[in-house]
Amino acid sequence: MAPVYTAPVYTAAVVGAGRGGKGSMAALSASPRFRLVAVADIQAEARATARELYPGIRTYDSHAEMFADCPTDVVCVSTWPPSHLDVTQAALDLPLRGILVEKPLADNFSDGRKVVESVRARKLPMVVPHGLLVAEHSRQILERIRNGEIGQLKLVEIQSGGWDIINAGIHWLNFFVALTGREPVDYVMAACDVSTRTYRDNMQVETLAVTYAHTASGIRVVMNTGDYVSISEPGEDTLFRLIGTRGTLDFYGWAPRYRLLNADHPHGRLFEVDPGAATNHQRHLDNLATDIDRGQPDYTVAEGSLAALELCEAAYLSCRQGGIPVTLPLDKFSPPAPADWQPGLPYSGHGGGRNGRRLARRPEQPGRRN
Ligand SMILES: NC(=O)c1ccc[n+]([C@@H]2O[C@H](COP(=O)([O-])OP(=O)(O)OC[C@H]3O[C@@H](n4cnc5c(N)ncnc54)[C@H](O)[C@@H]3O)[C@@H](O)[C@H]2O)c1
Repeated sequence: MAPVYTAPVYTAAVVGAGRGGKGSMAALSASPRFRLVAVADIQAEARATARELYPGIRTYDSHAEMFADCPTDVVCVSTWPPSHLDVTQAALDLPLRGILVEKPLADNFSDGRKVVESVRARKLPMVVPHGLLVAEHSRQILERIRNGEIGQLKLVEIQSGGWDIINAGIHWLNFFVALTGREPVDYVMAACDVSTRTYRDNMQVETLAVTYAHTASGIRVVMNTGDYVSISEPGEDTLFRLIGTRGTLDFYGWAPRYRLLNADHPHGRLFEVDPGAATNHQRHLDNLATDIDRGQPDYTVAEGSLAALELCEAAYLSCRQGGIPVTLPLDKFSPPAPADWQPGLPYSGHGGGRNGRRLARRPEQPGRRN
């Protein structure tokens, strides 16, 4: 009789037992590929909730103590973004087999890159749980766009209420990165209203923002985020509109449905999608287990997440500088000197400047790649 192959089961620990950490804990418990053994959180209440949900796990008030006392095959880094780099680097000192790092990889692009580079240096499998990369409806959408079902993609409009650029916007921008096949972005411009001094997930965030970017081939994204964004479709809190040369596709963030309008569906057809039983976190973690089994890390998801973080940071940098175009790659960008010029005010006729009616030729596009 042929031996029966049983897939290995990996032990796992979660750092940060909030909303993101609960997504990982539930996924680890539901998956036959993992055994959740420990959780660390700085808050006693979060540790108590984790013990109630998963009796038998060990809990710790610091990741350092947990790593010393209970090393595991897999660690899920689910704290707030500013601590992702430190926790990841501490986890990498363990005899780890794989790692999940929550989005955003860090609170800034440079640290996010360090997260990916340090995991890569260890050749460890890694996932970043961007749900739209694994959810059934959004996978179908990606496939339809790649198959040209709305022609060439030209514009992605995103409306997202109750959230901000760095916390939810990064999921949406990550999907833009996937839709464009990680095409390089020329520049990002953004405007943010910060009047309410709102913070979320340990980050200062905007009240209302518009982020604009376009890729080297000219695919645009326009994303409206903020606490009270009014969404064009009643009852939705998120709306994506993908505009192509031969059709449009609308969808509603996490909701398992989309509407396609093209020559085959000239009146628009709503596709309702069965989301399946596994959560998006479980799908990512099961992918991680497969990568560990194969001993072949695949950094596509991590690199895409990093590209999305670069867009987020460029957007915030643009906001801080009064809405200037921030060219990418970000580490080659140097902000221009502040200009004493107020568009929309009458021109006095003196004081310098240039006559916009007499431009010799079309100026270089910001960020144009030569
Ligand atoms: N992928 C997703 O769909 C998804 C969903 C929710 C949250 N997240 C991400 O998860 C991360 C956490 O966000 P959240 O919504 O869970 O926040 P949260 O406030 O619900 O929970 C964060 C938890 O981390 C703990 N914590 C913070 N710093 C810590 C540290 N140094 N060591 C141990 N514990 C620490 C806090 O006490 C808290 O319990 C963020 O990066 C967020 O973007 C991702």
